[in-house]
Amino acid sequence: MPDFEAFANGKIILFGEHAVVYGVEAIAAGIPNAVKASVSLSLPGQRLRVPAWGIDLDLSTREHANSLLYQSLALILDTLECDVPNFELVIDSHLPPGGGLGASAAFAVVAIRCFAGACSLDLSDAEVNDLALECEKLAHGNPSGLDNTLATYGGLCAFQRNSEGPQLQTLSLAQPVKLVVAMSGKKGYTAETVARVRGLYQRDEQHISAIFDEIGGISMTGRKALADGDKRKLASLFDKNQECLRQLGVSCPEIEQVLSIARDSGALGGKLTGSGDGGAIIILPGDDDAALKQALQAARIEFFDMQLLASYT
Ligand code: PMV
Repeated sequence: MPDFEAFANGKIILFGEHAVVYGVEAIAAGIPNAVKASVSLSLPGQRLRVPAWGIDLDLSTREHANSLLYQSLALILDTLECDVPNFELVIDSHLPPGGGLGASAAFAVVAIRCFAGACSLDLSDAEVNDLALECEKLAHGNPSGLDNTLATYGGLCAFQRNSEGPQLQTLSLAQPVKLVVAMSGKKGYTAETVARVRGLYQRDEQHISAIFDEIGGISMTGRKALADGDKRKLASLFDKNQECLRQLGVSCPEIEQVLSIARDSGALGGKLTGSGDGGAIIILPGDDDAALKQALQAARIEFFDMQLLASYT
């Protein structure tokens, strides 16, 4: 029997990835309870298992000291002053690795919640979120804070990091919106793509800032399209945002192939979501999504349905 269990959300970014790191507003939605974890304190040793990812680490040796998961867990246990000599943390993830769906932040949030429970600490969501942000910094240096925020709170929100810190606004929709989330089949590496965009920005700040501004405008218009329930507008904004991401060099042939299959089978629009160069694609299907799903299946592309709810409680 596990001693504690916890959940966290994955996320999709509807608008604004990468630009959000530079202070532009992004719009994102949580994938509800996509990651679950349980911790048992009575088993000997210190073990981390993520069966869906084939991970089974013995943390009592320093053999894995370079792994990000090891370092995140060490940071969590240290910060919480959680002195548990024996534990087995098992993470059950519906999120694929390198999918751009916020798995690393969700792992941090479930681990924090499990160990806080194990050490009888009553952490607020804000405290969980702050510590998850520190774990994200280990993963990719200068995160916007969007992933950990969605992992902690879920829902649908506009997120912006400005000089006063992260600003979060919950959004509601005129009506639910159905999306299809497809996998490109290529793993994305957030630290790498974020660094690549940083390099472009440093070489040509004016040009890259103009792309970020355009993304900011798309995000603002997207907010209105969501509120109005205007699917066609939303789809054309997905396409525009995708064009900006192409210009930032974070699309790739695998993503473009999924987008082209989607277009050819009647989808209204689509874009990569997350850091890109692999990972997931969000697609806005037309009223009938059967042809789209058949085409994805025929091309052996993994996908799942996701619904943006009119409101989240
Ligand atoms: O690929 P993911 O799930 O780690 O998302 C990264 C989102 C970025 O905007 C590219 C980076 C960030 O810190 O917001």
